Order: sequence, then structure tokens, then C-alpha cells
Amino acid sequence: MAELRTDRLLLRSWRESDLAPWAAMNADPQVREFFPGVLSREQSMASAARFQADLDRRGWGWWALEVRATGEFVGFTGLDPVDEEASFTGVEAGWRLARSAWGHGYATEAAAAVLAFGFETLALPEILAFTTATNLRSRAVMRRLGMTHDPADDFDDPNVPDGPLRRRVVYRLPSGAQRAVGR
Ligand SMILES: CC(C)(COP(=O)(O)OP(=O)(O)OC[C@H]1O[C@@H](n2cnc3c(N)ncnc32)[C@H](O)[C@@H]1OP(=O)(O)O)[C@@H](O)C(=O)NCCC(=O)NCCS
Repeated sequence: MAELRTDRLLLRSWRESDLAPWAAMNADPQVREFFPGVLSREQSMASAARFQADLDRRGWGWWALEVRATGEFVGFTGLDPVDEEASFTGVEAGWRLARSAWGHGYATEAAAAVLAFGFETLALPEILAFTTATNLRSRAVMRRLGMTHDPADDFDDPNVPDGPLRRRVVYRLPSGAQRAVGR
């Protein structure tokens, strides 16, 4: 499996020691503000196992994210094929960090490495990113990466009940258009 490294971060396999902080961040309503609810410990365990199985099977996916200076696990960043039932096809980039790891530029730094891997190693023609329209922090990551938003792509997520979380925006980055983000 590929490991990715940036100046400050390591994107690696999931470890047993990640599970407690992973469950804690998924139980944090602030981290889950734009999702249908917090996750139980069992749901967090199951998702980490699924992510690692994907990494083992194809060598890329939702990598565990570690701060190199401290060895601290802070969440995930990675790439995943868009859900089959979605009206879009392709590969999406995504990120979820513990609250204490926000505001350091970690998501953008990790995602830049993930995009480089997607374009250079997987030879993807385009990488997408989806989020709830009101998730401004995630949209800011997309913008910092040089991804662009076409309002014509906005859609209502059929898996989300009617309400403020339903409207979704799509950001795209074609191969070759990656912006250098510091570090
Ligand atoms: C989305 C999410 C990953 C964004 O995290 P973030 O910390 O805002 O984004 P970045 O890691 O790119 O950090 C950027 C911030 O770090 C600051 N920063 C501090 N030191 C920095 C450095 N050395 N380099 C770059 N930025 C730095 C930037 O100024 C910016 O701050 P601002 O928000 O006040 O403008 C985070 O909010 C999250 O995990 N949310 C919950 C899960 C979620 O919604 N995921 C997305 C689902 S689609």
C-alpha cells in the first residue's frame, strides 16, 4: 500500500491505536455537523476496518492521517470512487479531522499530496469533491486546492432527508490544473 508524506504529515495504514481517537472524533457533534448524526463506537470501528480493507485491496483510499512531529492520529484524508448510486462517476477526494487538528492547514496539505497521487500515480483525468453547500470549511479546502465549483452541478442528495443538509455542491479539478499549495 502506498504511504504518502508531506512536510508535516504522514498518510498511512490504520492502526489499533487510531481506533479510540477515531471513535472520539466521530462522536463529536462539531465534526459531524454536516452529516446525519454522530457515529457510535461500533460504527467507527466498522468504518476503520472498511477503510483499511480498501487500502489493502487497491493500495489507496481513505488513509489514516498522522502528524509526523508528534505521531498523533488526527483523522483521514484520501480518495475513493464516487458511490455507485450517485449521479456522478469518478473519484472523489475527502477529509475529516478531529476538531483539535483544524486551523493548521493539515487538510489542505494532506489533500494536495492525495491529488498528486491521484493524478501522477493513478493517472486520473479528474478528481471531484462533494460537500454540503453550507460546509464552508470543507469548501475552503477545495478552493485552496484549486478545485472549481459550477453551480450547475449542485444537487439534492437523495440519501439525506429534506432539510439544510440535503443541498450538495461539487468541486472538480482536471489533471494538470493542480495548484501548488505551500508546504
Ligand atoms: C473540513 C475540515 C477538514 C477543514 O479543516 P480546516 O482546518 O479548516 O482546513 P485546513 O486544514 O486546510 O486548514 C486551514 C486553516 O488553517 C490555518 N492555518 C494555520 N496554520 C497553517 C499553515 N501552517 N498552513 C496552512 N494553513 C494554516 C489557515 O489559515 C486556515 O484557517 P481559517 O480556517 O481560519 O482560514 C474540517 O473542518 C473537518 O474535519 N470538518 C469535519 C468533517 C467534514 O465536514 N469533512 C468534510 C466532509 S465533505
